[in-house]
Amino acid sequence: MMQRQGRPIATHSANVSRWGEILTVTSGKGGVGKTNLALNLGIQLSRQGRRVILVDADFGFANADILMNITPLGDVTDLLDESRSVDSLLVDGPDGLRVLCGVSGLSRDGAPGDLDPRRFAGGLRRLLPACDTLIIDCGAGVNPLIESAIEAGDLTILMTTPEPTALADAYATLKVLHQRGVLGRVGTVVNMVRSEREAEDAMSRLQGVAKHFLGLDVEALGMIPHDPHVISAVQDRVPVTVRYPRCVASAYIDVISKHFLPRVAQPVRASGLLSRVASLFV
Ligand SMILES: Nc1ncnc2c1ncn2[C@@H]1O[C@H](COP(=O)(O)OP(=O)(O)O)[C@@H](O)[C@H]1O
Ligand SMILES: [Mg+2]
Repeated sequence: MMQRQGRPIATHSANVSRWGEILTVTSGKGGVGKTNLALNLGIQLSRQGRRVILVDADFGFANADILMNITPLGDVTDLLDESRSVDSLLVDGPDGLRVLCGVSGLSRDGAPGDLDPRRFAGGLRRLLPACDTLIIDCGAGVNPLIESAIEAGDLTILMTTPEPTALADAYATLKVLHQRGVLGRVGTVVNMVRSEREAEDAMSRLQGVAKHFLGLDVEALGMIPHDPHVISAVQDRVPVTVRYPRCVASAYIDVISKHFLPRVAQPVRASGLLSRVASLFV
C-alpha cells in the first residue's frame, strides 16, 4: 500500500530544493507527531553529516528528552543567560544530534508566560554558530514566542494528520500566522496516513484552502504512514529511526530529509541567517 518496489515513494514537490537552515515544526492540533518528526528528521540530517541542533520549544508539553531518554542540562530559558555557554546547555542525542531541552508548564495553556519574544529570538541566535540546521519543535498552536521563531525561520513545517479536525486546526494555525505576517515558506507533512491516497487527499485539501482563502502556496513535504513501530519506539524511549531504521515510517522520514539538499555557499548562508535573526531586534 505505502511502498512500491520496496522503496518509499517521494511525493514532494520539485521546488523544495534549498538547504533548510532554521526549520520550525508546528501544528494546529496536539499529538499529530511534531516531536517525533523533529527528532527523527534531526537524526537523519545529522547522519548526512550536518551539525543539527534540536530545540524543544513546546512550552506546554516539552517532551523531546523523554522520547530519547536523555537528561536535560538546561532549557530554552537558560539561553537568555549569557553567562551560560551554549555547550553547557546542549545534550548529546543519537548519531550526533544535539538537543536543547524544553521547559514544560510555563503556564497552563502552553503560552510563554513572561518570556519576551525578542529575548527568546536572541537566545536562539546564540545556537546558530554551533549548527548548520536548527530544528525548533514549536508545539501546537500559536504564541508570541513561536511567532518570533517562525519569523526567523526559513521553512515552517506544518504537521497534520488526515483527520478533518487536524486539517481544520492546521488551516486555522496557518491563517493566524499569515495574519500576523510572520510566515515565509511553509510546507506540510501528513502523518499517520493509512494510504498514499489518503495523504494526497489531505494535502491537496489543505493546499487548496490555503491558496483560495489566504493566497498561500503550501509545499508538499511528504507523508508518514501510521506505523506501530513509532508507538513501540516511543514506549522504548528510543527514536524510531534508531530503534527501527528499516521500518516504513523511518523510510518516509528519510525521504522527507532529502528535501534539504546540501548548501553551496556556506559563508553567505551563515551571514544571511544571522542578520535575519538580528533584524528581529531592530
Ligand atoms: N507515524 C506514526 N504512526 C503511529 N503512531 C504515531 C506516528 N507518529 C506519531 N505517533 C503517535 O503519536 C504520539 C504523539 O506524537 P508526538 O510526536 O509526541 O506528537 P506532538 O509532538 O505533535 O504532540 C506518539 O507518542 C505516537 O504514539
Ligand atoms: Mg510534541
